[in-house]
Formats: sequence, C-alpha cells, structure tokens
Amino acid sequence: MIRTVLVALGLAIGVSAVVAQSNPIAERKEAMKGVGAATRQAAAIAKGEAPFDAAKVQAVFKTYGEAAKKVPTLFPESSRSGGETTAAAKIWEDHAGFKAAFAKFDADVTKASATATDLASFRTAFGDVTKNCGACHETYRIKK
Ligand code: HEC
Repeated sequence: MIRTVLVALGLAIGVSAVVAQSNPIAERKEAMKGVGAATRQAAAIAKGEAPFDAAKVQAVFKTYGEAAKKVPTLFPESSRSGGETTAAAKIWEDHAGFKAAFAKFDADVTKASATATDLASFRTAFGDVTKNCGACHETYRIKK
C-alpha cells in the first residue's frame, strides 16, 4: 500500500534514479515494479472496482511512458545476470528487437493517453496497451 502511494507520488522514481548509477538491474526492476503497481490501479478502474478518474488514468500512462523510455537503457552487457534478474539472454542477442518492443509500447501509451477520456474508451485503450506486457515478457523474460 505504501509502495503504491510512493509510486503514485513519483517518489520511488526519485529514489531509483540514485540507484541507477551503480545498479541497472535494481533500477529496471524498480521501474517495472512501478509499472506493475500502476497497472493494478488501472485494472481496478477497468473492472469497475474503482471509479473512473481521468487524472489517475493519465498518471498510469505517464508511469508507462517514463518506463518505456528509461528501462531499455538499463541493460548494459555487465547486467546479464545477478540481482535476481529475470531478463532473458535474447535481450542482448536481439537488442534492436528489444528496443523496438519498448518503442511500440511507448507509441501505444501515447495513443492510449490521447484516447482514454471516459470509462469505455479507457477500457479499450488499457486493453490495447497492456497487450505489450505479455508480448514482451514472453520473448525477453525468463520464467522463474
Ligand atoms: C518491451 C519489453 C517490456 C514491456 C513492454 C513490459 N515489460 Fe515488464 N519487464 C520486462 C523485462 C525485460 C523485465 C525483467 C527485468 C529484470 O528482471 O531485470 C520485466 C519485469 C517486469 C516485472 C517484474 C519486476 C520485478 O523484478 O519485480 C513486472 C511486475 C512487470 N515487468 C510488469 C509489466 C507490465 C504490467 C507491463 C505492461 C503495462 C510491462 N511489464 C511491459 C520487459 C517489458
């Protein structure tokens, strides 16, 4: 709960930026955890468990967009293993494809953020954008 609040306030991002210089694995995991927390909030809205809130929805897309730009820069050769990473070797074998998957995610987020103006349009936009999660994880993440 506290985590979610910190992420919502953008505080976790500030903290992880400090970690970044020394530990890309920790930082990319932190950024992805922020994406996971944002997704839980958005899913609650999509399922009708929380009211539609345009500001919250835009905050979710902002978290996605920031991660889409930052995370692909956090995979230096030296970070192939360690730190309980679930990154697959394919990230380094097909780095162009990996970056393209993040660029597609980012473009879909921009589109979703522009079209999600009410609950119905948000549901469609959220559904489209979250197809990227599984698609990328399937190829570029190992299952533990
Ligand atoms: C283009 C690729 C890509 C996309 C798109 C993507 N992810 Fe990830 N995600 C990764 C990779 C790679 C990891 C593994 C990072 C590591 O362990 O070093 C990861 C890890 C995670 C983790 C685990 C973090 C941890 O270590 O605790 C969560 C949660 C997650 N992603 C959620 C999401 C959600 C939700 C979405 C969609 C809204 C998403 N991701 C979209 C590539 C992606």
